[in-house]
Amino acid sequence: MTEAILQVEGLRKVFGAAVAVEDVSFSLAPGGSLAIVGESGSGKTTVANMIVGLERPTAGRVVACGRDRSRPPRSARERRERGHEVQIVFQDPYSSLDPRQSPAAAVDEVLRLHTRLGAPQRRRRVEELAELVGLDKRQLAALPSRLSGGQRQRVAIARALAAEPQVLILDESVAALDVSIQAQVLNVLADVREHTGVAYLFISHDLAVVRQVSDEVVVMQGGSIVERGPTSRVLDEPEHPYTRLLRASVPTLGWRPARRLTHFSTEAR
Ligand SMILES: Nc1ncnc2c1ncn2[C@@H]1O[C@H](COP(=O)(O)OP(=O)(O)OP(=O)(O)O)[C@@H](O)[C@H]1O
Ligand SMILES: [Mg+2]
Repeated sequence: MTEAILQVEGLRKVFGAAVAVEDVSFSLAPGGSLAIVGESGSGKTTVANMIVGLERPTAGRVVACGRDRSRPPRSARERRERGHEVQIVFQDPYSSLDPRQSPAAAVDEVLRLHTRLGAPQRRRRVEELAELVGLDKRQLAALPSRLSGGQRQRVAIARALAAEPQVLILDESVAALDVSIQAQVLNVLADVREHTGVAYLFISHDLAVVRQVSDEVVVMQGGSIVERGPTSRVLDEPEHPYTRLLRASVPTLGWRPARRLTHFSTEAR
């Protein structure tokens, strides 16, 4: 068996009196793709936040690339090193980019922080990453307000990849996109995995998307994992009643989570 690139053990998170995550354990192989599915509020983002260090676990352990990251980094250097291990792309392609910064500048900033490349090499690398995610020269120089949701999401992905992470967490990163753009971004992600060997932790409540991108699935309900296994087995022959329920409520084409509609209405139409 290969050594896991990411391993979480007995993760628990309590907010006040509420238990958001309870005893969550899973591991991700290098170059693998694991999905976390579950309804709104089931604890998916909280798990992701604990992995990247945005939330501290109440209990349990996160190990990435053989190193424990359950505690906050002790130095700027350790923080930077962790950025090499795990990067996250959030759900909202609007708020995650600096409106005053072109995609080229945003990606370059990450390269300056995470690599020792000189300016000409960085320029070349920016172009390579842009090509990898399917952004052209004009889009690279434009301000985010001039880009579509799909283009912005590709910028966010390029920026995350610039740190050359071993693991990329995608938290509902395609949920807000139009179906055709969503398909484009999913293709990009599949290409990137093939070319770089990055592993994905893919959070989604869209089972059709999960089927397309993930080798394995864990199903969360109320903070706990209720079922896990290879994607086709879990989705085609679900054992747990909750997974069957999720499957029965599979979103149809064009479906979007209601609470996000207002947020994205300008782009979604
Ligand atoms: N900072 C916080 N303070 C208090 N409660 C929180 C906090 N973050 C999350 N929660 C609670 O933890 C539970 C899990 O939330 P989480 O955001 O992880 O769910 P999710 O599965 O990502 O949902 P969604 O699909 O809507 O994104 C929810 O009940 C939520 O209200
Ligand atoms: Mg979430």
